[in-house]
Amino acid sequence: MSNKRIDQPTGTETVGHEWDGIEELNTPLPRWWLYTFYATIAWALVYVVLYPAWPMIDRASAGTLGWSSRGDLAREMSAADAARQGVFEKIAATDIEKLPASPELMNQAIAGGAAAFKVNCVQCHGAGAAGSPGYPNLNDDDWIWGGTLSEIQYTITHGVRWDGEDATRVNFMPAFATMFEPAQVDALAAHVMSLSGKAKDNAAGAQLFAENCAACHGPTGAGTPALGAPALNDAIWLFGGTEADVKKQILKPRHGVMPAWQGRLDPVTIKMLAAYVHSRGGGQDPAPVQTATAPEGKVAQAPEADSDG
Ligand code: HEC
Ligand code: HEC
Repeated sequence: MSNKRIDQPTGTETVGHEWDGIEELNTPLPRWWLYTFYATIAWALVYVVLYPAWPMIDRASAGTLGWSSRGDLAREMSAADAARQGVFEKIAATDIEKLPASPELMNQAIAGGAAAFKVNCVQCHGAGAAGSPGYPNLNDDDWIWGGTLSEIQYTITHGVRWDGEDATRVNFMPAFATMFEPAQVDALAAHVMSLSGKAKDNAAGAQLFAENCAACHGPTGAGTPALGAPALNDAIWLFGGTEADVKKQILKPRHGVMPAWQGRLDPVTIKMLAAYVHSRGGGQDPAPVQTATAPEGKVAQAPEADSDG
């Protein structure tokens, strides 16, 4: 039945088929190839026993070693956590105003704060912390509530006007809609614009400002962080910088709301966020900057809403 024969020139057996006089030699596999092949089979069998391999209905067979990629990930994560824990503890133990004294720790805090900012803050303050109308830019040197590390930390911890947070920051601007004639509002708005060189000043506006606004915004419009009254003389605007925006704020003031993060973020994350915000370029150092920008006759008391006008 078989047409196998020994091929004379090569001495090799043929496979037994013949096509138009052409026959195929049954050349044996090279030894090294064959043993490698057996080795891979042996390896596969061992692997199937030790590791998850065999597809089942909802998962693969478990394998006798109990290894899983999920478990591997969990192990790597907890190793990374342990490494971070050391840094966390150091940051927790360091007073926030002393952080800059250890540049390495400060840098780690800033990096951690940048990551937390992306998750918690960008929806209001913008990806680059540049803000938008109603949401302050955190990159500039203009601070409603003060720009030292501890002031920023306080703002983030307690928020602004945040319901249910006892220590939240509260600022208030009275509505002057019923107090001023339209011409007085025009004069005031022009005076406010003149503080940043955007309009010509006028005596009536300056007078009204001194009587009604200076108590909070300062005689020169430099702002009063203790009251959360923003500077009006730096061409940086929270609610828009046109004369129309300024009039709107005088007649029907807007008030920003910022969530308190204490309870939602741990104190170390808040500290790192403060370090990050402070590092954005406009951070202030504790004492000297404050006195340099505040006018001499800084008024610490807000006037009564029914003061004359
Ligand atoms: C829901 C919107 C919102 C979110 C989210 C938010 N903020 Fe704010 N933030 C505001 C508003 C509005 C103000 C201005 C409040 C005011 O009018 O005084 C503010 C003010 C601030 C200030 C004070 C700026 C100054 O000039 O004194 C800091 C600092 C700040 N936010 C940091 C953060 C950080 C850090 C996060 C994330 C953990 C965050 N904010 C998340 C809305 C938000
Ligand atoms: C009781 C304190 C207080 C008085 C008085 C007051 N303001 Fe304000 N003003 C504020 C506060 C606080 C804000 C910021 C509100 C916020 O952050 O949500 C503000 C915001 C503003 C803004 C918006 C600033 C920006 O960056 O967009 C303008 C403009 C302004 N005030 C003008 C005036 C003028 C003009 C007067 C006088 C007629 C006046 N304010 C009187 C507290 C006051």
